[in-house]
Amino acid sequence: MSKYEQLATELKAQIHQGVWQAGDKLPSLRQTAIDSGLSLMTVLNAYQLLESQGVITAREKSGYFVAPQHETLSYPQHHDRMYLSDKLDINEFVFSVLQSSKQAGVVPFGSAFPDPAMFPQQALSRSLVKATQKMSATFAADNLPPGNLGLRKAISQRYAKYGMSVAPDEILITSGAMEALNLSLEMLTEQGDWVVVESPAFYGALQAIERLKLRAIAVATDPQQGIDLEALADVLEQYPVKACWLMSQHQNPLGCTLSDTNKQKLYQLLQQHDVSLIEDDVYQELYSNGTGNRPVKAYDSDGRVLHCGSFSKSLIAGYRVGWVAAGIHASKMQRLQLMSTLSTSAPMQLAIAEFIQSMQYERHLKRLRKQLHDRKTAIYTLLRQALPDTVKVNFTPGGYFLWLELPEHVDATNLYYQAIEQGISIAPGSLFSTEKQYHHYMRMNASFECTDKIRIAVRDLSKLIRQMI
Ligand SMILES: Cc1ncc(COP(=O)(O)O)c(C=O)c1O
Repeated sequence: MSKYEQLATELKAQIHQGVWQAGDKLPSLRQTAIDSGLSLMTVLNAYQLLESQGVITAREKSGYFVAPQHETLSYPQHHDRMYLSDKLDINEFVFSVLQSSKQAGVVPFGSAFPDPAMFPQQALSRSLVKATQKMSATFAADNLPPGNLGLRKAISQRYAKYGMSVAPDEILITSGAMEALNLSLEMLTEQGDWVVVESPAFYGALQAIERLKLRAIAVATDPQQGIDLEALADVLEQYPVKACWLMSQHQNPLGCTLSDTNKQKLYQLLQQHDVSLIEDDVYQELYSNGTGNRPVKAYDSDGRVLHCGSFSKSLIAGYRVGWVAAGIHASKMQRLQLMSTLSTSAPMQLAIAEFIQSMQYERHLKRLRKQLHDRKTAIYTLLRQALPDTVKVNFTPGGYFLWLELPEHVDATNLYYQAIEQGISIAPGSLFSTEKQYHHYMRMNASFECTDKIRIAVRDLSKLIRQMI
């Protein structure tokens, strides 16, 4: 073992022993070099190795901090590899949970949107004013499907930042990612077809499957590693699957991201079985370290991936602007949109195009990623202090969700009803289940600043969980 690997191993052992805990700042490179008698370069290599392993994180101009440690949830021992459902029945429950979480004053740990206080509302309003002042008499027609050219070019240039070549012609602007995802599913399937989702899955996918009277196969998904590719291979072998609706990055609700190798393998599997992928990638920009990851779409050589993105999570939720890079399906998707919603609101498209073109987006994203990481770490730390070890908290880099596994006898839907009485919403695991398999799990939105109100809410929620245990 080289000297830097040795140092990394020692530091890792100290972290496991609790010498340094999640959120603690490690001694500076210089200090560690002095203490250990090693060179600055050796210490730097050790820290970088730990960073690449997700054990510590670097914060610009602040140093290195201990990342929340990996907690093993009960997957895969307790989970089936696939769940088949002929008919989903989730819409009513999702609707009632979302309605009650919207009540004024409720602490929205159950919400899927990041804290709106982080959105650059005022700058966007200025962009909206500027954009509408410049609108031509023909603006409505100019922004019909596939949508505003300036915005499609800006999105195309963001793909280029990830080393991907996606032409503006391939992109269709939609009313949020939800329209992109729904149109994609509608285009690829007919009533009764099989569709693969993750287990657990984003409830929007389950709702769409229910609405279109499709059949779902939920494939086991590891809270850290992502979808089980062997299980998926078996499913594709055994069933005439028409489409997969998956999240390869910052999966909702787990937060996991597939490795590059597994993304490539996933794509090869789809090619082998001639199945299209609806890739839901609405959290793509919300990575917390490095320069972000490329989606499965990056490996798409034959246009079978419909990559759905959104500005709802990374810029502004209320404008309802998303898109799909639809590959070989691009022109069919345009026709489908024309027949359903006609087009996305033109002023909203123009405002976001104006905001991105004025170079403010990148600066905003940089700040947002850091804020989200810090807030998620802080809420994780509060939870860990308040909850017993029998509750596992899944922490993943990027995004803003925490996925909690409660002891098996604790019903998270019951917890949800009790918590809402106390003015706190959570997203119970059954929202993400095809067959009620996640009754003792819950998702928590950790994008909020740790104010007194949030601290009290975490304390009260933890107390409720302890009582139910
Ligand atoms: C995984 C996932 N996909 C899609 C959406 C919908 O995104 P949009 O608001 O852009 O329609 C959400 C919103 O919560 C989401 O969490």
